[in-house]
Amino acid sequence: MKIKSIRGFHDILPESIKRWHFVEDAAKRIFELYGFSEIRIPVLEFTDVFSRSLGTTTDIVEKEMYTFTDRDGSSLTLRPEGTAGIVRAYIENSMHAKSSITKLYYTGMMFRHERPQKGRFRGFYQIGAELIGPQEPSSDAELVVMLWRFFEEIELTPFLVLEISSLGDQNCRPQYKEKLVQYFAPQKEELCEDCQRRLQVNPLRILDCKQKRCKEIAANAPSMLDNLCEECETHFNYVKENLLSVGIPFTINPKIVRGLDYYTRTVFEITTDKLGSQNAVAAGGRYDGLVEELGGPATAAVGFAMGMERIVLLQEIALPEGFQKKVDVFIAYLGEEAKKAAFPLAFNLRKKGVSVETDYGSKSLKSQMKRADKLGANFTFIIGEEELKQGVVKVRDMKESKEEDIKFEDIINLSETFQP
Ligand code: HAM
Repeated sequence: MKIKSIRGFHDILPESIKRWHFVEDAAKRIFELYGFSEIRIPVLEFTDVFSRSLGTTTDIVEKEMYTFTDRDGSSLTLRPEGTAGIVRAYIENSMHAKSSITKLYYTGMMFRHERPQKGRFRGFYQIGAELIGPQEPSSDAELVVMLWRFFEEIELTPFLVLEISSLGDQNCRPQYKEKLVQYFAPQKEELCEDCQRRLQVNPLRILDCKQKRCKEIAANAPSMLDNLCEECETHFNYVKENLLSVGIPFTINPKIVRGLDYYTRTVFEITTDKLGSQNAVAAGGRYDGLVEELGGPATAAVGFAMGMERIVLLQEIALPEGFQKKVDVFIAYLGEEAKKAAFPLAFNLRKKGVSVETDYGSKSLKSQMKRADKLGANFTFIIGEEELKQGVVKVRDMKESKEEDIKFEDIINLSETFQP
């Protein structure tokens, strides 16, 4: 049997890596501007880290985690998301003692046993950021602004919508849940099996159900935004005001419930209509109870994560051109002597920062020129017998289709000419 990758897992091939680098570089640049530092944490954690953070009634914990028993009997899980592990690391490394404000970002692979489809994988990459410490609404706003600025930087905002809402806190959410139960209970029989169970354990999840009838019933359910306590309302208004003050466009979507249970107050999602049903490219919110829940001191926090595959897919649609890898110089040679002369020439050019490709065998000049074309080389250097005799290199400007002989000893001094 032919060996192959696991369903829902995929390779990122060299032809698309430039887009990945472009997105990752922009994220790092913008996040660093806002004072965030990178953190790298393990992909494998004790299962508790996730089951205690994400909520036992969430789809992720109920059916999507890659969990297995280690040789010593402990239960381990491949991280389905980054936040829980970051909080674990925050507590374990006593980061709270070092500073009252901690700003972290991370990139890496996450694992969820979902049904694969376009834009949805079982192994996928996220870039995320967590701002731990401040409870003030200006920190929520700053984080959302940073995320939007990142999308502006990679020119995707024309294809995106930012939606925000508030999920209340421990004061107002229990009462709201009670209202939801009262609303859904008389229609219980019409809800799907999952939602009938959700009614008992977490009625908020019903608002997120994708079943047609459940959606219809949920459409008229009471809204969290109409049931916020005064503090939560003030907090939400402040976030909106901050966003307006810098001209970040947003809409209010009271139906956002998020697929994880740790959220309090502000939640947000950035979606697109270009990717079919997997329309969320980034999402996040405030999670003021999580640090304490995992055994740390009571600490507020807010964060987000974005799906790299979805961003790259959207980018391919929005900006189809301009991401091919280009070579500055291709050195074509004819004969063994020329090949030997090409070797140190390539070495010295690369040392000067010029990207150089060349052949290794003894192909015809025609096939070497073909490869130079395919690689999109800006210049091709040709070294044949005649050039060797005269101590020159024939430099062909591939765009202008112009040729010029340049002395071997002058080439390195001219290296800047060959760079874009
Ligand atoms: P999430 O909404 O579960 O939030 O995931 C964030 C983003 O990851 C999604 O908007 C989507 O772009 C991407 N994503 C999720 N699942 C998949 C998948 N199966 N295939 C491809 N992309 C996917 C979180 O993970 C939270 N940790 C965000 C957060 C950080 N909240 C606070 N801090």
